[in-house]
Amino acid sequence: MPVSSRPRSGSSSVAVVDPATDESTTSSDVSPAVAGPLDERPDGLDLLERYTEVRSTTERLAAPLSAEDQVVQSMPDVSPTKWHRAHVTWFFETFLLAPLLPGYGADPDYGFLFNSYYEAVGARHPRPERGLITRPTVDEIAAYRAKVDDAMGELLNGPRVHEPGVRSLVELGLNHEQQHQELLLMDIKHVLSSTILKPAYRGRRAADPTANPVWTWVDFDGGIASIGHRGKGFAFDNEGPAHDVLLRPFRLADRAVTVGDWLLFVDDGGYETVDLWLSDGWHHRNTNDWQAPMYWRRADDGSWLVHTLDGERPVDPAEPVVHVSYYEADAFARWAGARLPTESEWEAASASVAVDGNLLPAEHLHPAPVADDGASRGTGSGLRQMFGDVWEWTASPYTAYPGFRPAPGAVGEYNGKFMIDQQVLRGGCTVTPGGHIRSTYRNFFPARARWHFGGLRLAADR
Ligand SMILES: [Fe+2]
Repeated sequence: MPVSSRPRSGSSSVAVVDPATDESTTSSDVSPAVAGPLDERPDGLDLLERYTEVRSTTERLAAPLSAEDQVVQSMPDVSPTKWHRAHVTWFFETFLLAPLLPGYGADPDYGFLFNSYYEAVGARHPRPERGLITRPTVDEIAAYRAKVDDAMGELLNGPRVHEPGVRSLVELGLNHEQQHQELLLMDIKHVLSSTILKPAYRGRRAADPTANPVWTWVDFDGGIASIGHRGKGFAFDNEGPAHDVLLRPFRLADRAVTVGDWLLFVDDGGYETVDLWLSDGWHHRNTNDWQAPMYWRRADDGSWLVHTLDGERPVDPAEPVVHVSYYEADAFARWAGARLPTESEWEAASASVAVDGNLLPAEHLHPAPVADDGASRGTGSGLRQMFGDVWEWTASPYTAYPGFRPAPGAVGEYNGKFMIDQQVLRGGCTVTPGGHIRSTYRNFFPARARWHFGGLRLAADR
């Protein structure tokens, strides 16, 4: 039975399941890789407008980069900008244009080069060697994008857009491209950091450093919470099925862990204290000589500098710390006498928070200090920075929700086959496109990963 959801003074409660309001999925326009039904308009133009907006955003993000910038792969996890621009285009070509638009001609060489991981589609170029793809050129990729955009315009203005599943596949393609917009920025940040000059992607001047903001706990009563996507609107298949979980009473920090907090951990010997670390984490710390978050560097005077998309500058104690691995986040939480939240705790707590914050439309391109009044981000519960700024590592391994079944065929490979050896992160980050984050959104990376915008928020039992 659900426990009381009535907020107590100074505390918040998790959402409680009400079977009477449990919306069911009834639309026939549900792609196997999409969890919810989508609104449909008869002319299809809403989708075309949205298609145009998403595609132009990708081009806008690539615009500051030279052709040389767009070819480099600085490590196996990173993909070149040119490859991102082509791969998201290949997705529309392969899953929509080739099967649905009569006479559409796809280049099989492009299919080989720009298939990422879809075994059902066929053989592909090795991921660690994407930086060797000097041909097709950047200009030829631009022409490829234009060709596919023209054909998608024809498809979205034609009758087949109304066939079952087509709109959902277009939505999947657009959300896929938005995921790659974020990847494009995190990848080019690594590329540009990889030489001693550390050039800026953009040259905006940083604000002056400010004091580390105070923080407090926000208490939650726990209870039976409904987790996962339900109802209308786009969601990835890994966000469902919605299901109940039992949460013990818990508390979350009202803001993300900051650079100022992290400096205390560093100065207290956190990176040298084996007791704080998981065994695998200690191995990675030693193998890679981790002494600080990725992109931090000691200046000659002993202070810390950080590489950002606006170039290198002194660290700001008030900013959320970013580019830490799960292992570092876990060690920090142990040092602080706390722990990381589970993904269920995070999702339940976020139910009362507006889905807004320091996301890509804000154009900070870096985590930002909490607003002084706490009102501009996070409302209702006192939680701040839940959406945007940094993807928050959770203690939860990335596994299937009860009842999850990957769809048959290629799009079923989108999420399900990666449900091993990864941790879930929640809330989006400063380079997550607007409209591309939800309380149910499950991002995932290996525990060792640092080049995405990963940070943390503390949790504790009550
Ligand atoms: Fe992809």
